[in-house]
Amino acid sequence: MQKQREHWGSRLGFILAALGSAVGLGTMWKFPYVTGQNGGGLFVLMYVFCTFFIGVPLFVAELLLGRKAQRGVVGTFSLLSNNSVIWKTAGWLGVASSFLIMSFYSVVAGWSLNYVFLSLNQFYLNRSAQEISHVFDVLAASGDITIFWHLLFTAITAAMVYRGVRQGIEYWNKVMTSTLVILLIVLCIYSVTLSGFWQGFDFVFYPDLSKFKASSALEALGLAFFTLSLGQGVMITYGSYMRREDDIPKTAGIVGSMLIVVSMMAAILIFSSIFTFGFGPQEGPGLVFKTLPVVFAQLPGALFISTSFFFLLVFAALTSAMPLVEVVSANFMDLYGWSRHKAVLVTAVGCFSFGIPSALSSTDIVFANWRQIYGKSFFDTINDLVSIWLLPIGGLMISIYIGWFLSREVVYEEFHAGTRLGYLWRPWLFFMRWVVPVGIILIILQTSSVIDVNHLFS
Ligand code: PFF
Repeated sequence: MQKQREHWGSRLGFILAALGSAVGLGTMWKFPYVTGQNGGGLFVLMYVFCTFFIGVPLFVAELLLGRKAQRGVVGTFSLLSNNSVIWKTAGWLGVASSFLIMSFYSVVAGWSLNYVFLSLNQFYLNRSAQEISHVFDVLAASGDITIFWHLLFTAITAAMVYRGVRQGIEYWNKVMTSTLVILLIVLCIYSVTLSGFWQGFDFVFYPDLSKFKASSALEALGLAFFTLSLGQGVMITYGSYMRREDDIPKTAGIVGSMLIVVSMMAAILIFSSIFTFGFGPQEGPGLVFKTLPVVFAQLPGALFISTSFFFLLVFAALTSAMPLVEVVSANFMDLYGWSRHKAVLVTAVGCFSFGIPSALSSTDIVFANWRQIYGKSFFDTINDLVSIWLLPIGGLMISIYIGWFLSREVVYEEFHAGTRLGYLWRPWLFFMRWVVPVGIILIILQTSSVIDVNHLFS
């Protein structure tokens, strides 16, 4: 017999959990540098467009599926599709993606945790700019230290999820997501006082056509996908803790809008800081760990600014990592009747162990020849595998399933349950059937280099 399923305690709790899952390293770490590489304003506009027209509809679809089935991702597909092997595979794909993302996500999150500690120790004192940014290279090359933080981060995440949906996930999201938003607002207000503020502001909002490439649009779509945590069953799992009276389209709209506001605040904060000290926008992934500490060290109140920023990053990462662990453990609970405690423990040990080679990617300790064989580090191999293939394919399967395979009446009824936005039904269905799948297929073709849209449009 199914055990009584837990549900979210309040709508706000769910919104904060969904927002927490969305706002993570993707928003704080990837969004700014990808914006930098794609010329700023127009890219941001494209990101907003993709979030609302492709991300949010798919977000709604995942929540609907989960709420309908009241199961984890594999259980949802097998229940609704009468045990079809293909659709169950789509579910397992989601579990695999979550597991793989967690394995390397917690390495980067562990570095953030390390930077909180470093900031509290004022590690930047009496060091030149070069020495400060070099700290990160030393850290990445120190296997033991990286593994220590990776372990600590995984353990903290697991401890939070261990307590269940309401007392664990919802409770911690309320605390951390709201603190994150407040901290971000405080830091943004502070950034207005910086001399580079307007330059940063312009950079984020001014659409510069000359730097925008056709591939930037797909890049924006991929990013919208990753930040909204789509394509791997996170929202199916979160939806399974919703009640029929909850308003899914409205909630999705709120989460999408809040995500955009938070991403823009993060980008403004980061760019005004780096422009104040004459750094360029295109600093790549090293932006957060190499450039920002140098910038913070020169600001008045460095201790406060640097510590708050890295705290913010850790909170963002924790609230995004919780659902990753939950997706995997919810399956063990649903499918094999495991207790939550056992499921979370097994998941955490698995993610930690599989993450070890990622943590040691910049060293020669394990898989020393990986780079020579595969052409990139273990970390990048897994990261690319997930972002280029697994997430888009997962999203594609979800959209095709709900748009073309699941009975129209079931989808219609579930869409209308609990919402007053029933008039969005037709446009939403059209997007699910056509726009979302076509958009995703284009991303897959572009990122796997089968086509080059820059070439097609030049
Ligand atoms: N949305 C998170 C971010 O932008 O960092 C990343 C993420 C978290 C992706 C959880 C997927 C997920 F299930």
